[in-house]
Amino acid sequence: MSNAKLPVHVGIIMDGNGRWAKKRGLPRKLGHREGGKVFRKIVEACIDLDLQYVTFYALSTENTSRPKEEVEALVKLFDEYLDDIREMSDKNTRLRFIGGLEFFPKTTCKKMQDAETATASNTGMTCCLALNYGGRSEIIRAVSQIISEHATGISPTWELSEENFANYLYTRGMPNVDLVIRTGGERRISNFLLWQAAYAEYYFTDVLWPDFGKENLATALGDYAERNRRFGGL
Ligand code: IPE
Ligand code: IPE
Ligand code: MG
Repeated sequence: MSNAKLPVHVGIIMDGNGRWAKKRGLPRKLGHREGGKVFRKIVEACIDLDLQYVTFYALSTENTSRPKEEVEALVKLFDEYLDDIREMSDKNTRLRFIGGLEFFPKTTCKKMQDAETATASNTGMTCCLALNYGGRSEIIRAVSQIISEHATGISPTWELSEENFANYLYTRGMPNVDLVIRTGGERRISNFLLWQAAYAEYYFTDVLWPDFGKENLATALGDYAERNRRFGGL
């Protein structure tokens, strides 16, 4: 595929871990563990494909109300992943974390900050992880930040525009999303990158996340390359 037809920013909703486990009579947390392995494989595949930005939806704000045992297992998995971060630096990849990160234990937050700092000057792909992320809460947070910054009046040189607003989102500095891939069979966005994916193409597959492979990713990108993006024009 020519690079011209490659999306610059891909969002991936990694759904279906629980059902994958259920089908095998396993506890849900083993589905998440398998999903974590696939996440690592797909990050590699994205790097090999020369993608520039990939945002993985790993935990939504809504997911934090799942049973404590499941949420704890997920937090533990993220924490373990953060211990292997050197791998990313070796691949010249930048790591970024978006979402309500204060939800995580202080030690985990520190690992996230350290990983971002350690990989900040890498020049390859940006691998962004959305954790305790919600599109609506991101927008509310941006609005309240703008209000508090301008509590004493808006400076005459500042104007509220789409571009300026985007600078208050977690994804500050990242381009809009071109393609959202969702595994697991549901056809919805579940509060993912509402602002950033306003004009994205959507690709839905019934494949459960732990069964998702490089070939499935290639199929999604091939499908995207065939789309005619008009952005409301002719
Ligand atoms: C996606 O898999 C991972 C997270 C939401 C954390 P699910 O846990 O939603 O799996 P299903 O949808 O129940 O199969
Ligand atoms: C979306 O999946 C969130 C993540 C994959 C992290 P969910 O399984 O939480 O979404 P719903 O409940 O089907 O909308
Ligand atoms: Mg799900």
